[in-house]
Amino acid sequence: MKQETFINENRPHESAIKHVTGKAYYTDDIPEPPGTLYGAIGWSKKAHAIIKKINLDKVFKSEGVVAVVTSDDIPGRNDVGPVYDGDPIFPKKAEYYGQPLFAVAATTTELARKAVLAAKISYKTLKPITTIKEALKKKSFVLKERVIKKGEALKAIESSVHRLKGNFTTGSQEHFALEGQSAFVIPQEDNDFKVFSKTQHPSETQQIIAKMLNQKSNSITVETRRLGGSFGSTETQSFIFAAICTLLAKKTKRAIKLRVDRDDDIIITGKRHDFYSEYSVGFDELGVITGLKLKLASRCGISPDLSGAINERALLHVDNAYYLENVLVENYLCKTNTASNTAFRGFGANQAMMVIENIIDHIATTLNKDSAEIRRRNFYQKKKKNITHYNMKIEDNVIQEIYDQLIKSSNYKSRQLSIKKFNSENKYIKKGICFTPVKFGISFTTWHLNQAGSLVHIYYNDGSVHVNHGGVEMGNGVHTKIAQLTAHALGINFSKIKVSATTTDKVPNTSASAASSTTDLNGAATLNAISKIKMNLAAYVKRKYKIKNSEGIYENGMVKFKGKTFKFNKLIKEAYLNRVSLSSTGFYTTPKIHFDKKTFKGRPFLYFCYSAAVSEVMIDTLTGENKILRADILHDAGRAINPAIETGQIEGGFVQGAGWLGCEEVVWKTNGQITTHSPSTYKIPAVSDMPEKFNAEIFKKGINIENVINKSKTTGEPPLMNAMSVFFAIKNAIASIGNYTANPKLDAPATPEKILMSIKNLKRKI
Ligand code: HPA
Ligand code: CA
Repeated sequence: MKQETFINENRPHESAIKHVTGKAYYTDDIPEPPGTLYGAIGWSKKAHAIIKKINLDKVFKSEGVVAVVTSDDIPGRNDVGPVYDGDPIFPKKAEYYGQPLFAVAATTTELARKAVLAAKISYKTLKPITTIKEALKKKSFVLKERVIKKGEALKAIESSVHRLKGNFTTGSQEHFALEGQSAFVIPQEDNDFKVFSKTQHPSETQQIIAKMLNQKSNSITVETRRLGGSFGSTETQSFIFAAICTLLAKKTKRAIKLRVDRDDDIIITGKRHDFYSEYSVGFDELGVITGLKLKLASRCGISPDLSGAINERALLHVDNAYYLENVLVENYLCKTNTASNTAFRGFGANQAMMVIENIIDHIATTLNKDSAEIRRRNFYQKKKKNITHYNMKIEDNVIQEIYDQLIKSSNYKSRQLSIKKFNSENKYIKKGICFTPVKFGISFTTWHLNQAGSLVHIYYNDGSVHVNHGGVEMGNGVHTKIAQLTAHALGINFSKIKVSATTTDKVPNTSASAASSTTDLNGAATLNAISKIKMNLAAYVKRKYKIKNSEGIYENGMVKFKGKTFKFNKLIKEAYLNRVSLSSTGFYTTPKIHFDKKTFKGRPFLYFCYSAAVSEVMIDTLTGENKILRADILHDAGRAINPAIETGQIEGGFVQGAGWLGCEEVVWKTNGQITTHSPSTYKIPAVSDMPEKFNAEIFKKGINIENVINKSKTTGEPPLMNAMSVFFAIKNAIASIGNYTANPKLDAPATPEKILMSIKNLKRKI
């Protein structure tokens, strides 16, 4: 009989059928108790202003309104900042356009939304700071600037054969998850609250609400069944919605649902940090970098939120896949009167990787050499040139293998020749191609967050298994993969495993589902719980049947001990009748990691994910429109638990990254008002923007050399960065207009306007 192992195999997402039939419960789908009220938030129409008076008389009188809450209703901490203060629930002074000022509960969502518009607020307007450049000039920062250094960058640049200078910008990005921000709160006895929140971080939601109410954490339970995508949008920025919803529930003593509409969602919440960089680089005749000086400034918005960790991850990824001998980076965290920018898939790493990729591209066009070859020459190597600028030895480098395989499988060289031929024969339509690599470090850079818990029960009557762990299902497939690991570890059918909603009263003190680490951490904690139950079973079998030191082999619904084999269900029932515990918690902490934030040295990551892409694009030089013709991706997922889910992440991440670097542009007016707050003004990629030919492959030789579940590697964030190849393919197409003799200036996102401007500038140079 063929053995079913349930791992290393394509399985549909555990909720796939519920997703497509509309039966899956998201926060807004949870059945409401009678008397439920609906919330809406009133927000600031000024980006920077003293609030002179908030007159809510007309709001109170508005149809259906039951209660209004302001800062006066907050008994405890009036802040939802995760690490630092700075994110008031309702502020005294307005610091950005869209900042919540008060909220209402009414009998319907429509009436609540209508009521908030009746507020009369008088402001004394102050001058806002809205751009990175202005903030740099005025030294407006959310945290202190920092400098990191390895070797002697300035000396190395000065003594280099070649030198280049330039600046580069990458834009912001709205998360635009299908499911928007929402919360649903039901008051319980004893002033306790049951909070359903769309969040990547139930535990911190619990703490934030407890602090706001001056109540103990054990009086707040936060539950999250699944998210309709998140991408960082609810790592912290869901807190304010859950907090306001709870405040309304406390005041009315009724269940409250708060689901903001898409415009309010985009206006109220922060987005990806846009980054501005200035660089000075030295390199040799081969294009190998000898010294690099960088200024790296990001737009953080009004508060630190997660900006410290995001900028730190940026500093840890200025190398991408390249060995840098001499580096000097100044990093500025700019405070602006815009919503507090936050986590977004990649978390600063991708912004920094774009900086170094742009530099390499600049070097290649300056030397008039193939950019893939210049990239290869700068790669980290295996025996030498394998120490990062933060002193971590790279032991798992496979970038050269990925390069060799992908350059070949994508036919890079011959396509490059035919593209050049095409360009010489076509005046207005131009094509471009580019290879870019990815190296992305896995682990939270904040050491203590690298822990996870799990709770596993086996029920005696039918041997079915209930798993609960600290990870949040947000389309990442974490529950599916952990159910697969569980089925494999217990040798039973996948259908016998249920992974239930993440909730703070089952597994406490969890970390955010973030940093691409959710399955690695929670999967390992689950296996730990299972191994404890197996120990209980082995001890029982040893005691009862005098079997020596056998852990048992769990396969195909059978459990084999030395000299005795049981059916799984029979063993479980027998163990129950003999008073053996069939339930356990599990725990996991990531080994080997350490990092000194002050000296910027250590091993912040357990391992690296490697990937690469070759993209081919076409641009219309008259309209600036562009199209991805073909993308080839080779991605190291180690020994993938579920290749189908990983491939979904690889493809989805790429398209999301192509949106960030291509069509998605967040625009603020000089008065701080965001103008791109709906799908009519903010363009995310559509199905028609997918590459016409899309070959996303998992690196077959991939294996995690570290002790990670199933020797797999995560795929959460790293695939997004493969889209860098699209941006530089567009730049390559533009460069063809100058016959590849000059470096076009192109900032991200490469919107049609930016492409046209770049072409215009280039034509002036040649
Ligand atoms: N991504 C990467 N690193 C992180 C994150 C994230 O979302 N959150 C905290 N560290
Ligand atoms: Ca958002």
